Amino acid sequence: MLVNSRELLIKASKDGYAIGAYNINNLEFARYILEACNEDKAPVIIAVSEPAINYMGGYEVVSSIVRSLINDLNIKVPVVLHLDHAKSFESCKKAIDKGFTSVMIDASDKTLEENILITNKVKEYADPRGVTVEAELGSLTGLYTDVNDCMSFISETKVDSLAPSIGNKHGIYKEEANLNFELLGNICKEAKLPLVLHGASGLDDNKIKTAIFCGVSKININTDIQLVWSKKVREFINENKNVYDPRLIIASGKQAVKDLIHEKNELLESKRKAF
Ligand code: G3H
Ligand code: ZN
Repeated sequence: MLVNSRELLIKASKDGYAIGAYNINNLEFARYILEACNEDKAPVIIAVSEPAINYMGGYEVVSSIVRSLINDLNIKVPVVLHLDHAKSFESCKKAIDKGFTSVMIDASDKTLEENILITNKVKEYADPRGVTVEAELGSLTGLYTDVNDCMSFISETKVDSLAPSIGNKHGIYKEEANLNFELLGNICKEAKLPLVLHGASGLDDNKIKTAIFCGVSKININTDIQLVWSKKVREFINENKNVYDPRLIIASGKQAVKDLIHEKNELLESKRKAF
């Protein structure tokens, strides 16, 4: 069943666990993630970035793939179809019109005022259509989020969830991640809305647990999935030089992706009561 993220995130933040937001890059990733979450009885956010949408053919393709997989694979857990890091109102509108149930407008590179304006424009379009909106404040390139900015942003936008910048980064951490949990805790105390941790790949379990303890209820993972899949596929190709069927090559990374999702679900949702 496709749902927006509101109730899932509110419940998670109240009960002290987090929902996994896993990025897909193709049909296979969507299938593996849905299957693994269904086996775990774990609600899931399927996140898709604009470049991934372009790669897959467009908003309608992605929406149809995820909806069809939910039906054909008989997926019983709640699924959120989420546009990740949209850079414009138009992108959010396209996703909403094609049936995404959640969008992230990422205007974190703009001024606070511009960020508020564009987030409100997205909210106005999304609200009556039952779609939830995530925004980002600060910048994952190293600018820490200011607590006072958070409060003005939240009161001016009534956004559904917020991704602060606390030292987290996308991709592979070149040196050990240095997350400011004190800042995260302060933001959480003041903001009183679901918080999102981007760039969760490569973080050790303790950091992720601490982030959840400080109030994060959505954990975004992309790079880790790509890493485990590509490692297995590379090994498979090296060991099976005569195989040319793309289905065998792509599927050689399936179990690794599913194992990773099971592992992350267990870590994020240990406090969730059985769905
Ligand atoms: O929006 C998606 C993420 O923040 C994922 O980041 O690739 O570092 O896991 P990651
Ligand atoms: Zn991100």
